[in-house]
Amino acid sequence: MTRMDAFRNRVGGFAFGGDYNPEQWDPAVWREDVRLMREAGVNTVSLGVFAWASLEPEPGKYEFGWLDEVMDLLHAGGISVNLATPTAAPPVWLTHLHPEVFPVMADGQPFGFGNRLHYDPSSPIYREYAARITTRLAGRYSFHPALAMWHISNEYGPTAYNEASSVAFRAWLRRKYGDLKTLNDAWTTHFWGQTYTDWDQIEVPNIPRTWMNPARKLDFKRFTSDALLECFLAERDIVRSFRDDIPVVTNFMRFFRHADYWRWAPEEDAVALDIYPDPADPDSHVSAAFQYDLFRSLKGGQPWLLMEQAASAVSQWRLNVVKEPGRMRLGSLQAVSRAADSVMFFQWRAGRGGHERFHSAMLPHSGPDSRTFKEVLDLGRELRLLAPVAGTTSRSEVAILFDWDGWWGLEETAGLPRADFSYPDTVMRHYTPLWEHHHPVDVVASASELGAYKVLVVPNAYLIDDDGAERIRAFARDGGTVLMSFFSGVVDACNRVRPDGYPGAFRELIGAKIDEYWPARPHEEFAVEFADGRRATATWWRDDLHLETGTALATYADGLLRGRAAVVENRYGAGRVVYIATLLERAAFDALLLETVAAAGVRAPFDGLPAHVECAVRESAAHEYVFLLNHSAEAGASVPVTGTDLLTGREVTGEVELAPLGAAVIQRPHPQAP
Ligand code: GLA
Repeated sequence: MTRMDAFRNRVGGFAFGGDYNPEQWDPAVWREDVRLMREAGVNTVSLGVFAWASLEPEPGKYEFGWLDEVMDLLHAGGISVNLATPTAAPPVWLTHLHPEVFPVMADGQPFGFGNRLHYDPSSPIYREYAARITTRLAGRYSFHPALAMWHISNEYGPTAYNEASSVAFRAWLRRKYGDLKTLNDAWTTHFWGQTYTDWDQIEVPNIPRTWMNPARKLDFKRFTSDALLECFLAERDIVRSFRDDIPVVTNFMRFFRHADYWRWAPEEDAVALDIYPDPADPDSHVSAAFQYDLFRSLKGGQPWLLMEQAASAVSQWRLNVVKEPGRMRLGSLQAVSRAADSVMFFQWRAGRGGHERFHSAMLPHSGPDSRTFKEVLDLGRELRLLAPVAGTTSRSEVAILFDWDGWWGLEETAGLPRADFSYPDTVMRHYTPLWEHHHPVDVVASASELGAYKVLVVPNAYLIDDDGAERIRAFARDGGTVLMSFFSGVVDACNRVRPDGYPGAFRELIGAKIDEYWPARPHEEFAVEFADGRRATATWWRDDLHLETGTALATYADGLLRGRAAVVENRYGAGRVVYIATLLERAAFDALLLETVAAAGVRAPFDGLPAHVECAVRESAAHEYVFLLNHSAEAGASVPVTGTDLLTGREVTGEVELAPLGAAVIQRPHPQAP
């Protein structure tokens, strides 16, 4: 049994609860909290996330009495604790004793005190103090009966340009390159005469006069992610040294650019996500769905933890709109539909002061007699009904590539044919039509195993290492279908243009050579004609593409590239490759992508649902759990399906009706069940 299996058994299915900050409240409130948590069916809280100053008010002077009492109270109330190491919020005394723990920004200025995450991850002093409080905490609570999970720090993220970062960066580079010749070569330092002759000459890439060496910048992103990961690993290993059977996690963020979560995920027992889809953005649930698919995929399809979401409004944006009645429930079920095994919130009780005083909570300022608290009660009840679903996951035949190295290459380094690439937007452009047509999608990295998939979507793999490029080629050679968009396979892992014509890594794969990249002028539009006569417009980008083994699925009908291929089809080994060399208008792009998926023999589990109804399926050996989620606040929907609706307990024969913002979770026998 894994640590997460044991955790699931302990909470009886789904973890339900939120961040709990008792250090902000009077002890009388703690008792009311536990009473109301029980009423709401809360079974887990994340405790003490920012409590370092309350636990160690002076260096080496510890006050655990209050936490002892809270742990005991929670345990007596049957509530499990996801106990945090408080190292995301170094106390003010530490920053006074050692101002060098403050992260220095790229311009050389240190951050001031007053927020959180104000530490340089490479600072040996920060690490020493963090290890000390972690050791104390683990020593005291590892065998407390309330302890169910360790929550290491919070939202690892700072990038620092301190002296200590430079020292650690040099050590990281020495490990990676071994000698300076290899580093100089990898960084192309003959360019602009940047050759290093001594390791001590290498600094973190602070602000240069104009442009920064693109390989140095890229390595600094990799280094920063690794430095943060080292902080996590150090604390994880401390808590594990006391006790080995408790799951250890940390909380990640959506589309977070500064940590390569593919490298982090194997180091924890489950991946955990904090996500705040903006209720003012009508498409935020689509980008949320992508995150949920990514988080499930980060650990090879294992259920993940929704660690934080808002019960209603947040407090970090310019306009913080409430979640209308029903939205919080629907969003929670959406995460569950894509294999979340928890629904947790930031936070349990709304704070009275501090920056987040208007952030919503399970228990809002207006108390238990409030819309939000009632919705929380209902959600807790429904999650108990869904208990059989916990621990199950889903299967996909379509995979989409999402890689931090590729993201950094495209957006963190300058000097590309155009400077306005958005990797998340590009990925979402490829994901959205699949989501709208209810295709289950896994997310893969360039180092992932691809054998289980029929279709691989490669949105924009500008930077890909040799191994990743070969995996994609092998996938196609072995019979897979690859749909690839422009500006892929261009540079190697050192951000150097691959030789022998664009796209160096994929010229044979796409069956064409690109002479030049032609970014479009503002407002420039091109007519594209498909082989079957359909026409579309394109913008933003064109490859000046010369077919080799490939054939044109579409050509430009005007402009200087008239007659040249805009979309290429190539047979490669036993596989099929569709390469899109321009930015097609949305309808044409979506149609091409969906036709490519269909031609590979992939069928979505439901055809013909309205676009506002989302469908996702989790499965166990015996059952399929079909989640049907109506994102429209105005329109209902009826969906042809048969089984038991776990939310109502009713048998559904032939058709289920969904109210506006309504949901159903249909359990039916697994078609391949023994
Ligand atoms: C993050 C943090 C929380 C809180 C919320 C507010 O996810 O982890 O401490 O600040 O944001 O939305």
